[in-house]
Amino acid sequence: MSFDLKVVLKNKAINEWRLFWLISVPMSIIMVIAMSGADMSNGPGVSKMIQFSVRFAVPFIFLVVAISSVQILFPGPIPAWLLRNRKYIGMCFAVAMAWQGMFIFIMSNFFRDYYFEDVYLLRDELEGSIGYIFLPAMVVTSFRFGRKHLTLKQWKLLHTSAIYFLWAYPFSVYWWNFSHYYGNPQPIDYVYYWGGFLAFALRIAAWGKQRQKAAKKLLPAISTPLAFKGLGGAIIAFGLIVAATGLQWQKPVSAFLTAPKWSADLELWLPFWPFEPYLSLFIIGLGTMLVTRARAEVNDKGQGR
Ligand code: HEM
Repeated sequence: MSFDLKVVLKNKAINEWRLFWLISVPMSIIMVIAMSGADMSNGPGVSKMIQFSVRFAVPFIFLVVAISSVQILFPGPIPAWLLRNRKYIGMCFAVAMAWQGMFIFIMSNFFRDYYFEDVYLLRDELEGSIGYIFLPAMVVTSFRFGRKHLTLKQWKLLHTSAIYFLWAYPFSVYWWNFSHYYGNPQPIDYVYYWGGFLAFALRIAAWGKQRQKAAKKLLPAISTPLAFKGLGGAIIAFGLIVAATGLQWQKPVSAFLTAPKWSADLELWLPFWPFEPYLSLFIIGLGTMLVTRARAEVNDKGQGR
């Protein structure tokens, strides 16, 4: 009997809503079991459940961010299956986040003193609240009844911003953990940090590949000059070093970036400011732009811009 992965992955049991139930029901059962074993009668106990639930959610949002790029970079039956089910994977993220939302609600309502003394920080509150505004907006507009109120442009803007924001939040949490900001990181902090990094780095790589492909289509003979390739490659390598060494540079770089008063003020309320966790990805993006530059220039000219 031959094994055809394509056929297996088209099985109804592991697609669309059935896939959603297959993941979210066991996940919710685990949440109930963990809750019954946790001490929900005090703030720290509920905080543990917040942590527990969000750790279920995070891999799904990282996956959602990466899926389309995986299909561009490594087309095949598994990426195609993931892409087909992207919406349902996003819904699993929403379920885990709903659990976290419930635990946050319990904490902020029943353990207010603990919440305001040990947890509350204006900037975190703003970041978290924005996340919880995006989440239901995304869920509702994933269905026809919600979608019909938006134009295609608005829908795309909402979903792209929401996905990036909901990626950016946990990625930054694990970057700060990775950089020892809160003491010694646990192994899971490393795994989630690199998971979030990989998800976005794949998007950059896919973007570079598409830039090159589009330019090649217009002028097949043109290629990137070696100098751009070398410089871009070096910048990408530097970005990777920056990604792996947050512990070494976080303190001086943060101090430098928040030295002006306006910047220190912004840090108090502007989500993610001054963006230290994302510096490495920005550098890698810049390198990728250079590596694909000559082709892209031709592309731009070709499109008459
Ligand atoms: C106002 C809304 C929010 C509040 C009050 C809140 C509160 C908390 C608290 C108290 C913890 C600490 C748990 C512990 O270490 O014991 C936590 C952890 C965390 N939250 Fe939130 N959160 C909010 C929204 C969000 C959103 C929208 C996300 C995005 C996905 C998110 C992602 C995380 C992550 C990644 C952790 C770290 C979990 C770990 O240690 O592995 N939170 N949150």
